[in-house]
Amino acid sequence: MAEDLNIITGDKAKQYQSLIPQIEALINYETDLIANLGNVCAALKEQFGWFWIGFYFIEKDELVLSAFQGPVACTRIKKGRGVCGTAWQKEKTLLVANVDEFPGHIACSSLSKSEIVFPVYKDDKIIGVFDVDSEHLNHFDETDQQYLAQILGLIYF
Ligand code: SME
Repeated sequence: MAEDLNIITGDKAKQYQSLIPQIEALINYETDLIANLGNVCAALKEQFGWFWIGFYFIEKDELVLSAFQGPVACTRIKKGRGVCGTAWQKEKTLLVANVDEFPGHIACSSLSKSEIVFPVYKDDKIIGVFDVDSEHLNHFDETDQQYLAQILGLIYF
């Protein structure tokens, strides 16, 4: 696949529908996980311009930062701490419209205003989380939840 993405504007669902086959083409023939995670984050950043997009993986009782796009971020997050640690503990996708109203939110950056965090599974066992942050309030909705879950499903962890 060429390294250039075809970026479109307009309807959000259409943007995802255009991006998803391109992500598949980027990662389908590559077996290196970090390479694929990096490209997934980069493709989402290019298409949507979100503030921060990245993965954390579980090591003992902490999440440890992995591939991401965006400003520097907290390296380690304890289970149950912040949105990411809570998504891990509850094994639930968390859509947070206003991070300031989320008890224990970890502000890696004060610019981040809303967030969506997914648990990541391998062989039905949680292995980490996928976190997307926006500098706008209430930025993510069920459309993002649906398509981002679909994108996570494309990745062989
Ligand atoms: N805000 C997150 C921490 C991770 S960063 O935003 C990259 C949280 O509360 O878990």
